Amino acid sequence: MSNRILRWGLLSTAHINRSLIPPLRSSPRNELVAVAGRDLARTNAYAETWHIGRAYGSYEELLAAPDIDVVYISLPNSMHAEWAIKAMQAGKHVLCEKPLANTVEEVDTMIAAASEHKVVLAEAFMYRHHPQTLQVKQIINAGTIGHIRLIRGSFSFQIDAESNIRLNKSLGGGSIWDVGCYPINYARTMLGREPLTVFGSSIIGTSGVDDTFTGLMRWPNGAIAQFDSSLRMPFRTHMEIVGSEGMIVIPRPFKPDSVCEIHVGSAYDSLETIRITGPEHLYSGEVEDMADAILDEKMPRVSLQDSRQNVRVIQALLHSAAEGAVVRLA
Ligand SMILES: NC(=O)c1ccc[n+]([C@@H]2O[C@H](COP(=O)([O-])OP(=O)(O)OC[C@H]3O[C@@H](n4cnc5c(N)ncnc54)[C@H](OP(=O)(O)O)[C@@H]3O)[C@@H](O)[C@H]2O)c1
Repeated sequence: MSNRILRWGLLSTAHINRSLIPPLRSSPRNELVAVAGRDLARTNAYAETWHIGRAYGSYEELLAAPDIDVVYISLPNSMHAEWAIKAMQAGKHVLCEKPLANTVEEVDTMIAAASEHKVVLAEAFMYRHHPQTLQVKQIINAGTIGHIRLIRGSFSFQIDAESNIRLNKSLGGGSIWDVGCYPINYARTMLGREPLTVFGSSIIGTSGVDDTFTGLMRWPNGAIAQFDSSLRMPFRTHMEIVGSEGMIVIPRPFKPDSVCEIHVGSAYDSLETIRITGPEHLYSGEVEDMADAILDEKMPRVSLQDSRQNVRVIQALLHSAAEGAVVRLA
């Protein structure tokens, strides 16, 4: 194991940074050294509030800093590809917020850049590293619930302001990109393979993005997954995995608390509750996974092919909703 400490820079002053800063600070292998924003005065104030040593008034300046090893991209979705590629061209490793990009073509360009510049690129899907997710997968692999027949999942919340980036089409907004990506990713992860056909239906809001999305995915082995996502409904998260012999109910699949519960059993009225303890900070997993990948040359838990497939499925679902027709992925 390497004793090196990775020096991180944040590309933007995004709201989500506050979830990454505490695990970066508590990690012995990582250190937060800089933040960049579009406006120097605002970024200076942000750096002061969050006790970050260095502030830059442009993203380019941070990428030019020779002592920064890893860049966290917390920009709007439509900017992920451009800035991840620029960061990789500058020799930086990149942890990029979900979704990795809004098109498969962009993802392919990002993958090519990671390979060309010999750096680690990974999508920041924090829930994938949590012990709860790993345990659900273990229960499935152990055959406890038999063959998966049905997966259902939801992620919705009420958007706070009409100016939110999630309502901006040109910034890659929409509920499926923002939160629908979670139940889609969950179903793909638990089935361990890709859907063959998808059908989507959306409610498009006044800003032009899908305020609400609902989708159906079918796997070649007959398994079906249903999900919904919304920016205009009360907060809900839930996953349910139903197999031939039993089921797993996961009330907080995507943002579990440090102690969380899942329910497993052969019938809905006799489920056993399993309590799982996770890290103090939900986002520690993705930070440590990056350090494992960069310092110890381990494969990131969320592979780039996995991230690519998630984007591919989302694009297919959006296409289906626009056309009102089933889309075949093979
Ligand atoms: N994994 C998770 O749990 C999670 C949770 C929330 C969000 N996310 C992801 O994180 C990313 C950021 O989400 P957020 O809610 O944190 O966003 P946000 O607070 O709106 O921040 C986005 C940042 O992007 C920069 N930016 C550059 N060009 C912009 C433009 N034209 N319009 C608006 N902002 C622009 C701004 O920073 P400067 O002004 O400082 O340059 C802004 O602070 C998204 O990709 C989202 O999907 C992930």
